[in-house]
Amino acid sequence: MKIPIIMDCDPGWDDTIAIIMALSNNILDVKAITCVAGNVSVEKTTENAKKVLNFMKSNVILASGAKRPLVYSLRSLENIHGEDGLYGLLENAEYGVDKRKADELIKDLLLESKEKITIVVTGALTNIALLIKNYPECIDKIKKICMMGGGIATGNITKYAEFNIYTDPHAANIVFSSGIPIVMCGLEASYKSICKKEDVVEISKIENKKSKLVSKILEESGKVNRDYIKEIVKKGDSPLYDPVPVAYLIRPDIFKTKKYNIKIEIEGEKRGQTKVINNNNYNAEVVIDVNRKEIIDLLINCLKFKNKNDGE
Ligand code: BDR
Ligand code: CA
Repeated sequence: MKIPIIMDCDPGWDDTIAIIMALSNNILDVKAITCVAGNVSVEKTTENAKKVLNFMKSNVILASGAKRPLVYSLRSLENIHGEDGLYGLLENAEYGVDKRKADELIKDLLLESKEKITIVVTGALTNIALLIKNYPECIDKIKKICMMGGGIATGNITKYAEFNIYTDPHAANIVFSSGIPIVMCGLEASYKSICKKEDVVEISKIENKKSKLVSKILEESGKVNRDYIKEIVKKGDSPLYDPVPVAYLIRPDIFKTKKYNIKIEIEGEKRGQTKVINNNNYNAEVVIDVNRKEIIDLLINCLKFKNKNDGE
């Protein structure tokens, strides 16, 4: 039996690779993609999801969600993801967008489903916080939230905070206080999952359109100035942020996790920090180690995977 998932994301170069991976394996059953404001505006993240789903010849339901974080205004990242959020690599595409807002669609899918559904989140947690606030009856229908965000000892947008949690710390606080099981694939996981220049060359040699697109995305991402983390991520390399939670669900055996009690800093200099509170409670299982070779091999296997509607 496949694992049913809903992906809530803000594509985004790395969200795009995460979507492609999620659709390219025999383990996951993607029930819907929902979009949130983050890397770029929600109009652009939804447009990018349309482009990717069209590119994948998918028929997964797509919905658009929150235009801005719950309290703060949006600080988007065109400098990292390009003006359109996808380095201009895909043309605008025709793809139907469901009329329901993201939280409403997720609510309907959860309540209709006989089994619990896992939610993969690769953007700010705004849509999921709205789901919890507007439809608390859904909480028990969520198997777990497997998310990219946070970091135990480091940040990438400030010294203290990772971008997704920094973007909407109020939402993160709601999610981390909800009692829903959380697998947090934070910066520790991302920095152990770096896709190196030589891996990109390997990917570019695979003869299919998914690999051509992903190698171009990784080439562009490798050119980005990540001054803040230049000691960790060399030019030409890319940390596989958003593909990590997808990889975790496909191959949990290549990850090590540790349970922590995480508190979200809402404001001030430490806004967005996922702070570890040392006590015997825990609210998240945090990925602390990844087998880098295995995650790159998994990415390559997903790229080689023949999709149903794929003519290749
Ligand atoms: C996260 O921030 C976004 O820019 C990426 O898409 C990823 O989800 C990494 O901190
Ligand atoms: Ca993202």
